Amino acid sequence: MLHINKTELQNNPTPFYAYDLKLLRETLQAAAKEAQKHDYHVHYALKANTNDPVLAEIRNVGFGADCVSGNEVKKALAAGFTADKVVFAGVGKSDAEINFGLENDIFCFNAESVHELEVLNELAGKMGKKARIALRINPNVNAKTHHYITTGLEENKFGINFWELPQLIDYLPTLTNLQLVGLHFHIGSQITELSVFKQLCLRVNEIQGWFLSRNIKVEHLNLGGGLGVNYHEPDAEAIPDFAMYFGIFKEFLKPEPGQQVHFELGRALVAQCGTLVSKVLYIKKGIKTNFVILDAGMTELMRPALYQAYHKIENLTSHEPDLRYDVVGPICESSDCFGKAVMLPETNRGDLLAIRTAGAYGEVMSSGYNLREKAPAFYFEG
Ligand code: LLP
Repeated sequence: MLHINKTELQNNPTPFYAYDLKLLRETLQAAAKEAQKHDYHVHYALKANTNDPVLAEIRNVGFGADCVSGNEVKKALAAGFTADKVVFAGVGKSDAEINFGLENDIFCFNAESVHELEVLNELAGKMGKKARIALRINPNVNAKTHHYITTGLEENKFGINFWELPQLIDYLPTLTNLQLVGLHFHIGSQITELSVFKQLCLRVNEIQGWFLSRNIKVEHLNLGGGLGVNYHEPDAEAIPDFAMYFGIFKEFLKPEPGQQVHFELGRALVAQCGTLVSKVLYIKKGIKTNFVILDAGMTELMRPALYQAYHKIENLTSHEPDLRYDVVGPICESSDCFGKAVMLPETNRGDLLAIRTAGAYGEVMSSGYNLREKAPAFYFEG
Protein backbone atom coordinates (compact mmCIF):
# COMPACT_ATOMS: atom_id res chain seq x y z
CA MET A 1 0.00 0.00 0.00
CA LEU A 2 1.33 3.42 -0.93
CA HIS A 3 2.02 5.61 2.07
CA ILE A 4 1.56 9.25 1.20
CA ASN A 5 0.79 10.52 4.63
CA LYS A 6 1.99 14.01 3.97
CA THR A 7 -1.04 16.21 4.46
CA GLU A 8 0.07 18.61 1.76
CA LEU A 9 -0.14 15.75 -0.74
CA GLN A 10 -3.52 14.57 0.53
CA ASN A 11 -4.83 18.11 0.14
CA ASN A 12 -3.58 18.60 -3.42
CA PRO A 13 -6.09 19.23 -6.16
CA THR A 14 -6.51 15.93 -8.01
CA PRO A 15 -5.50 14.25 -10.21
CA PHE A 16 -1.77 14.56 -9.65
CA TYR A 17 1.42 12.57 -9.99
CA ALA A 18 3.34 11.89 -6.77
CA TYR A 19 6.99 10.88 -6.95
CA ASP A 20 8.86 9.24 -4.10
CA LEU A 21 12.37 10.67 -4.48
CA LYS A 22 13.76 8.44 -1.74
CA LEU A 23 12.70 5.31 -3.60
CA LEU A 24 14.04 6.80 -6.83
CA ARG A 25 17.41 7.43 -5.20
CA GLU A 26 17.54 3.91 -3.75
CA THR A 27 16.68 2.44 -7.15
CA LEU A 28 19.34 4.50 -8.90
CA GLN A 29 21.96 3.59 -6.34
CA ALA A 30 21.14 -0.11 -6.70
CA ALA A 31 21.43 0.12 -10.49
CA ALA A 32 24.63 2.16 -10.35
CA LYS A 33 26.25 -0.24 -7.88
CA GLU A 34 25.53 -3.30 -10.03
CA ALA A 35 26.56 -1.57 -13.27
CA GLN A 36 29.83 -0.37 -11.73
CA LYS A 37 30.71 -3.91 -10.66
CA HIS A 38 31.16 -4.77 -14.33
CA ASP A 39 32.28 -1.32 -15.50
CA TYR A 40 29.03 -0.93 -17.47
CA HIS A 41 27.78 2.53 -18.50
CA VAL A 42 24.11 3.48 -18.17
CA HIS A 43 22.39 6.16 -20.22
CA TYR A 44 18.94 6.88 -18.81
CA ALA A 45 16.19 6.79 -21.47
CA LEU A 46 14.60 10.21 -21.00
CA LYS A 47 11.47 9.17 -22.82
CA ALA A 48 10.29 7.40 -19.65
CA ASN A 49 10.12 10.56 -17.52
CA THR A 50 11.56 14.04 -18.07
CA ASN A 51 10.65 15.82 -14.84
CA ASP A 52 13.43 18.07 -13.57
CA PRO A 53 13.75 16.63 -10.03
CA VAL A 54 13.85 13.11 -11.51
CA LEU A 55 16.54 14.08 -14.02
CA ALA A 56 18.56 15.80 -11.29
CA GLU A 57 18.67 12.56 -9.26
CA ILE A 58 19.68 10.56 -12.32
CA ARG A 59 22.41 12.99 -13.31
CA ASN A 60 23.72 12.96 -9.73
CA VAL A 61 24.23 9.21 -9.79
CA GLY A 62 26.47 9.66 -12.83
CA PHE A 63 24.33 8.19 -15.61
CA GLY A 64 24.28 9.63 -19.12
CA ALA A 65 21.19 10.46 -21.20
CA ASP A 66 19.56 8.52 -24.02
CA CYS A 67 17.40 10.90 -26.06
CA VAL A 68 14.97 10.40 -28.95
CA SER A 69 14.21 13.97 -29.99
CA GLY A 70 15.96 17.30 -30.26
CA ASN A 71 13.93 18.53 -27.32
CA GLU A 72 15.08 15.60 -25.21
CA VAL A 73 18.68 16.41 -26.10
CA LYS A 74 17.99 20.04 -25.12
CA LYS A 75 16.36 18.92 -21.89
CA ALA A 76 19.24 16.60 -21.00
CA LEU A 77 21.82 19.34 -21.54
CA ALA A 78 19.74 21.83 -19.54
CA ALA A 79 19.48 19.27 -16.72
CA GLY A 80 23.27 19.15 -16.55
CA PHE A 81 24.07 15.94 -18.43
CA THR A 82 27.32 16.71 -20.23
CA ALA A 83 27.32 16.38 -24.03
CA ASP A 84 29.86 13.56 -23.89
CA LYS A 85 27.20 11.47 -22.11
CA VAL A 86 24.29 12.25 -24.45
CA VAL A 87 23.16 9.70 -27.03
CA PHE A 88 20.58 10.54 -29.71
CA ALA A 89 18.50 7.64 -31.08
CA GLY A 90 15.24 7.39 -33.03
CA VAL A 91 14.09 6.36 -36.51
CA GLY A 92 13.04 9.84 -37.61
CA LYS A 93 15.52 12.51 -36.61
CA SER A 94 14.82 15.78 -38.41
CA ASP A 95 17.61 17.87 -39.97
CA ALA A 96 17.15 20.53 -37.29
CA GLU A 97 17.43 17.92 -34.54
CA ILE A 98 20.57 16.41 -36.07
CA ASN A 99 22.11 19.85 -36.45
CA PHE A 100 21.37 20.61 -32.81
CA GLY A 101 23.14 17.40 -31.76
CA LEU A 102 26.12 18.18 -33.99
CA GLU A 103 26.41 21.76 -32.73
CA ASN A 104 26.51 20.43 -29.18
CA ASP A 105 29.04 17.69 -29.96
CA ILE A 106 26.97 14.94 -28.38
CA PHE A 107 28.58 11.59 -27.69
CA CYS A 108 26.86 9.60 -30.42
CA PHE A 109 23.98 9.35 -32.90
CA ASN A 110 22.42 5.90 -33.00
CA ALA A 111 21.64 5.67 -36.71
CA GLU A 112 18.68 3.55 -37.76
CA SER A 113 18.92 3.38 -41.56
CA VAL A 114 21.31 3.76 -44.49
CA HIS A 115 19.39 6.83 -45.60
CA GLU A 116 19.82 8.43 -42.20
CA LEU A 117 23.58 7.78 -42.37
CA GLU A 118 23.70 9.67 -45.67
CA VAL A 119 21.86 12.63 -44.17
CA LEU A 120 24.07 12.59 -41.05
CA ASN A 121 27.13 12.58 -43.30
CA GLU A 122 25.86 15.49 -45.36
CA LEU A 123 24.86 17.64 -42.37
CA ALA A 124 28.10 16.94 -40.49
CA GLY A 125 30.05 17.85 -43.66
CA LYS A 126 28.26 21.19 -43.93
CA MET A 127 29.36 21.96 -40.40
CA GLY A 128 32.89 20.75 -40.99
CA LYS A 129 32.46 18.11 -38.32
CA LYS A 130 32.63 14.36 -38.00
CA ALA A 131 29.51 12.80 -36.51
CA ARG A 132 30.14 9.95 -34.10
CA ILE A 133 27.69 7.21 -34.93
CA ALA A 134 26.60 3.81 -33.72
CA LEU A 135 24.77 1.51 -36.09
CA ARG A 136 21.46 0.41 -34.60
CA ILE A 137 21.19 -3.14 -35.79
CA ASN A 138 17.96 -5.07 -35.68
CA PRO A 139 19.05 -8.39 -34.15
CA ASN A 140 15.77 -10.21 -34.88
CA VAL A 141 15.40 -11.41 -31.28
CA ASN A 142 11.90 -11.84 -29.85
CA ALA A 143 11.52 -9.81 -26.64
CA LYS A 144 8.34 -11.71 -25.68
CA THR A 145 6.57 -8.57 -24.57
CA HIS A 146 3.50 -6.63 -25.80
CA HIS A 147 3.65 -6.36 -29.62
CA TYR A 148 3.37 -2.55 -29.46
CA ILE A 149 6.66 -2.35 -27.53
CA THR A 150 8.61 -5.05 -29.38
CA THR A 151 11.32 -3.42 -31.46
CA GLY A 152 13.97 -6.01 -32.28
CA LEU A 153 12.18 -8.12 -34.89
CA GLU A 154 12.83 -7.78 -38.61
CA GLU A 155 9.22 -6.77 -39.18
CA ASN A 156 9.62 -3.74 -36.85
CA LYS A 157 10.60 -0.33 -38.22
CA PHE A 158 13.68 -0.08 -35.99
CA GLY A 159 17.32 -0.53 -36.86
CA ILE A 160 19.34 -1.72 -39.82
CA ASN A 161 18.69 -5.32 -40.79
CA PHE A 162 21.54 -7.80 -40.67
CA TRP A 163 21.20 -8.58 -44.39
CA GLU A 164 21.84 -4.91 -45.22
CA LEU A 165 25.22 -4.92 -43.49
CA PRO A 166 27.56 -6.34 -46.19
CA GLN A 167 26.61 -3.58 -48.61
CA LEU A 168 26.62 -0.95 -45.89
CA ILE A 169 30.09 -1.87 -44.67
CA ASP A 170 31.51 -1.34 -48.15
CA TYR A 171 29.65 1.96 -48.48
CA LEU A 172 30.37 3.41 -45.02
CA PRO A 173 34.01 4.45 -45.72
CA THR A 174 32.73 6.76 -48.49
CA LEU A 175 30.70 8.68 -45.89
CA THR A 176 33.79 10.50 -44.72
CA ASN A 177 32.09 12.79 -42.21
CA LEU A 178 31.05 9.86 -40.06
CA GLN A 179 33.06 8.08 -37.42
CA LEU A 180 31.76 4.63 -36.49
CA VAL A 181 32.11 4.28 -32.72
CA GLY A 182 29.49 1.75 -31.69
CA LEU A 183 26.96 -0.97 -32.36
CA HIS A 184 23.52 -0.46 -30.85
CA PHE A 185 20.71 -2.92 -30.10
CA HIS A 186 17.35 -2.55 -28.37
CA ILE A 187 14.77 -5.29 -28.63
CA GLY A 188 11.82 -4.00 -26.63
CA SER A 189 10.49 -2.85 -23.32
CA GLN A 190 8.91 -4.36 -20.18
CA ILE A 191 10.88 -7.57 -20.69
CA THR A 192 10.26 -9.91 -17.79
CA GLU A 193 11.54 -13.15 -19.27
CA LEU A 194 15.23 -12.61 -18.63
CA SER A 195 16.33 -15.46 -20.92
CA VAL A 196 15.53 -13.01 -23.71
CA PHE A 197 18.59 -10.97 -22.70
CA LYS A 198 20.74 -14.08 -22.96
CA GLN A 199 19.45 -14.56 -26.52
CA LEU A 200 20.32 -10.93 -27.22
CA CYS A 201 23.89 -11.42 -25.93
CA LEU A 202 24.43 -14.49 -28.08
CA ARG A 203 23.16 -12.69 -31.15
CA VAL A 204 25.30 -9.60 -30.41
CA ASN A 205 28.37 -11.84 -30.03
CA GLU A 206 27.62 -13.28 -33.47
CA ILE A 207 27.13 -9.86 -35.04
CA GLN A 208 30.26 -8.50 -33.37
CA GLY A 209 32.15 -11.54 -34.72
CA TRP A 210 30.94 -10.66 -38.20
CA PHE A 211 32.35 -7.13 -37.82
CA LEU A 212 35.64 -8.37 -36.32
CA SER A 213 36.14 -10.75 -39.22
CA ARG A 214 36.08 -7.64 -41.40
CA ASN A 215 38.59 -5.88 -39.14
CA ILE A 216 36.02 -3.53 -37.64
CA LYS A 217 36.25 -3.11 -33.90
CA VAL A 218 34.05 -0.41 -32.37
CA GLU A 219 34.63 1.45 -29.10
CA HIS A 220 31.33 0.47 -27.54
CA LEU A 221 28.45 -1.97 -27.62
CA ASN A 222 25.08 -0.54 -26.59
CA LEU A 223 22.60 -3.18 -25.43
CA GLY A 224 19.62 -0.81 -25.09
CA GLY A 225 17.11 -0.99 -22.25
CA GLY A 226 14.03 -3.07 -21.68
CA LEU A 227 14.27 -4.45 -18.15
CA GLY A 228 10.70 -4.86 -16.93
CA VAL A 229 9.21 -4.05 -13.53
CA ASN A 230 6.62 -5.82 -11.40
CA TYR A 231 3.33 -3.96 -11.89
CA HIS A 232 1.52 -6.45 -9.66
CA GLU A 233 3.73 -6.12 -6.57
CA PRO A 234 5.02 -2.54 -6.47
CA ASP A 235 5.92 -2.76 -2.77
CA ALA A 236 7.43 -6.24 -2.65
CA GLU A 237 9.49 -5.55 -5.77
CA ALA A 238 10.01 -1.82 -5.55
CA ILE A 239 13.57 -2.14 -6.83
CA PRO A 240 14.21 -4.35 -9.87
CA ASP A 241 16.84 -7.06 -9.66
CA PHE A 242 19.71 -5.21 -11.32
CA ALA A 243 22.27 -7.77 -10.11
CA MET A 244 20.48 -10.50 -12.04
CA TYR A 245 19.99 -8.27 -15.10
CA PHE A 246 23.59 -7.07 -15.45
CA GLY A 247 24.80 -10.53 -14.38
CA ILE A 248 23.27 -12.05 -17.52
CA PHE A 249 25.29 -9.69 -19.71
CA LYS A 250 28.40 -10.36 -17.67
CA GLU A 251 27.94 -14.08 -18.23
CA PHE A 252 26.94 -14.16 -21.89
CA LEU A 253 28.13 -11.01 -23.62
CA LYS A 254 31.68 -11.17 -24.95
CA PRO A 255 32.98 -7.64 -25.45
CA GLU A 256 36.42 -7.17 -26.93
CA PRO A 257 39.21 -6.08 -24.56
CA GLY A 258 38.88 -2.37 -23.87
CA GLN A 259 35.42 -2.18 -25.42
CA GLN A 260 32.82 -0.29 -23.37
CA VAL A 261 29.37 -1.75 -22.73
CA HIS A 262 26.44 0.67 -22.56
CA PHE A 263 22.80 0.30 -21.47
CA GLU A 264 19.77 2.54 -21.91
CA LEU A 265 17.43 1.83 -19.03
CA GLY A 266 14.24 3.82 -18.65
CA ARG A 267 11.33 2.07 -17.00
CA ALA A 268 13.33 0.02 -14.49
CA LEU A 269 14.76 3.22 -12.99
CA VAL A 270 11.64 5.36 -12.64
CA ALA A 271 8.45 3.28 -12.86
CA GLN A 272 8.00 2.35 -9.22
CA CYS A 273 8.65 5.79 -7.75
CA GLY A 274 5.63 7.37 -9.47
CA THR A 275 1.94 7.15 -8.56
CA LEU A 276 -1.08 8.76 -10.13
CA VAL A 277 -3.42 9.95 -7.39
CA SER A 278 -7.04 10.56 -8.31
CA LYS A 279 -10.29 11.33 -6.55
CA VAL A 280 -13.51 9.36 -6.92
CA LEU A 281 -16.17 11.51 -8.54
CA TYR A 282 -19.06 9.05 -8.74
CA ILE A 283 -20.11 5.49 -8.08
CA LYS A 284 -22.42 4.20 -10.75
CA LYS A 285 -24.33 0.92 -10.92
CA GLY A 286 -23.87 -1.05 -14.13
CA ILE A 287 -25.64 -4.23 -15.25
CA LYS A 288 -22.88 -6.56 -14.16
CA THR A 289 -20.60 -4.31 -12.19
CA ASN A 290 -20.30 -1.06 -10.29
CA PHE A 291 -18.23 1.68 -11.85
CA VAL A 292 -15.86 3.86 -9.90
CA ILE A 293 -15.57 7.04 -11.94
CA LEU A 294 -12.33 8.91 -11.30
CA ASP A 295 -11.20 12.43 -12.06
CA ALA A 296 -8.12 10.95 -13.82
CA GLY A 297 -8.40 9.23 -17.17
CA MET A 298 -6.46 7.98 -20.14
CA THR A 299 -5.34 11.58 -20.67
CA GLU A 300 -3.19 11.30 -17.52
CA LEU A 301 -2.17 7.64 -17.86
CA MET A 302 -2.60 6.14 -21.31
CA ARG A 303 -0.97 2.75 -20.75
CA PRO A 304 -4.11 0.78 -19.81
CA ALA A 305 -6.04 2.16 -22.81
CA LEU A 306 -3.14 1.74 -25.24
CA TYR A 307 -1.63 -1.59 -24.18
CA GLN A 308 -4.27 -3.05 -21.84
CA ALA A 309 -1.53 -2.55 -19.27
CA TYR A 310 -2.16 -3.54 -15.67
CA HIS A 311 -1.52 -0.99 -12.90
CA LYS A 312 -2.27 -1.83 -9.30
CA ILE A 313 -5.05 0.35 -7.87
CA GLU A 314 -5.40 1.09 -4.16
CA ASN A 315 -7.97 3.04 -2.19
CA LEU A 316 -6.01 5.33 0.16
CA THR A 317 -9.13 6.44 2.06
CA SER A 318 -11.47 3.51 2.73
CA HIS A 319 -10.78 0.50 4.95
CA GLU A 320 -14.15 -1.21 4.42
CA PRO A 321 -14.43 -4.81 3.16
CA ASP A 322 -13.65 -5.34 -0.52
CA LEU A 323 -16.16 -5.07 -3.35
CA ARG A 324 -15.66 -5.52 -7.08
CA TYR A 325 -15.49 -2.46 -9.36
CA ASP A 326 -14.61 -1.35 -12.85
CA VAL A 327 -12.38 1.69 -12.36
CA VAL A 328 -12.83 4.18 -15.20
CA GLY A 329 -11.97 7.76 -16.13
CA PRO A 330 -14.08 10.67 -17.36
CA ILE A 331 -12.92 10.61 -21.01
CA CYS A 332 -15.42 9.90 -23.79
CA GLU A 333 -13.87 6.58 -24.83
CA SER A 334 -14.74 3.10 -23.62
CA SER A 335 -11.03 2.29 -23.50
CA ASP A 336 -10.71 4.91 -20.74
CA CYS A 337 -10.60 2.20 -18.12
CA PHE A 338 -7.88 1.61 -15.49
CA GLY A 339 -9.06 -1.82 -14.47
CA LYS A 340 -11.97 -4.22 -14.73
CA ALA A 341 -13.27 -6.31 -11.82
CA VAL A 342 -10.85 -4.67 -9.40
CA MET A 343 -11.28 -5.64 -5.75
CA LEU A 344 -11.26 -2.47 -3.63
CA PRO A 345 -12.50 -1.56 -0.16
CA GLU A 346 -16.04 -0.21 -0.46
CA THR A 347 -15.45 3.02 -2.31
CA ASN A 348 -17.26 6.34 -2.00
CA ARG A 349 -17.29 9.75 -3.62
CA GLY A 350 -14.28 11.74 -2.46
CA ASP A 351 -12.02 8.74 -1.77
CA LEU A 352 -8.44 9.03 -3.05
CA LEU A 353 -7.21 6.20 -5.29
CA ALA A 354 -3.57 5.48 -6.04
CA ILE A 355 -2.66 4.06 -9.45
CA ARG A 356 0.76 2.59 -8.88
CA THR A 357 3.92 2.08 -10.92
CA ALA A 358 3.15 5.13 -13.04
CA GLY A 359 6.57 6.82 -12.95
CA ALA A 360 7.61 5.56 -16.38
CA TYR A 361 5.65 6.34 -19.55
CA GLY A 362 2.89 7.93 -17.47
CA GLU A 363 3.15 11.69 -17.27
CA VAL A 364 5.25 11.91 -20.45
CA MET A 365 2.48 10.26 -22.47
CA SER A 366 -0.35 12.41 -21.12
CA SER A 367 -2.48 14.30 -23.62
CA GLY A 368 -4.80 17.27 -23.75
CA TYR A 369 -7.69 15.31 -25.30
CA ASN A 370 -11.08 16.68 -24.21
CA LEU A 371 -9.17 19.91 -23.42
CA ARG A 372 -7.93 18.41 -20.20
CA GLU A 373 -5.46 20.29 -18.03
CA LYS A 374 -2.07 18.65 -17.49
CA ALA A 375 -1.94 16.98 -14.08
CA PRO A 376 0.72 18.52 -11.82
CA ALA A 377 3.59 16.61 -10.22
CA PHE A 378 4.54 16.60 -6.54
CA TYR A 379 7.54 15.10 -4.84
CA PHE A 380 7.94 13.48 -1.44
CA GLU A 381 10.46 11.40 0.48
CA GLY A 382 8.77 8.05 1.20
N1 LLP B 1 16.42 2.46 -25.86
C1 LLP B 1 15.59 2.54 -26.92
C2 LLP B 1 16.17 2.61 -28.27
C3 LLP B 1 14.20 2.52 -26.72
O1 LLP B 1 13.40 2.57 -27.78
C4 LLP B 1 13.67 2.45 -25.42
C5 LLP B 1 12.25 2.44 -25.18
C6 LLP B 1 14.58 2.39 -24.34
C7 LLP B 1 15.95 2.39 -24.61
C8 LLP B 1 14.14 2.32 -22.92
O2 LLP B 1 13.46 1.14 -22.67
P1 LLP B 1 13.01 0.72 -21.18
O3 LLP B 1 14.26 0.45 -20.38
O4 LLP B 1 12.22 1.85 -20.62
O5 LLP B 1 12.18 -0.48 -21.40
N2 LLP B 1 5.40 3.54 -23.86
C9 LLP B 1 5.69 2.16 -23.63
C10 LLP B 1 7.16 1.87 -23.65
C11 LLP B 1 7.84 2.31 -24.93
C12 LLP B 1 9.33 2.06 -24.90
C13 LLP B 1 9.97 2.71 -26.06
N3 LLP B 1 11.39 2.53 -26.13
C14 LLP B 1 5.04 1.72 -22.32
O6 LLP B 1 4.37 2.53 -21.69
O7 LLP B 1 5.15 0.56 -21.92
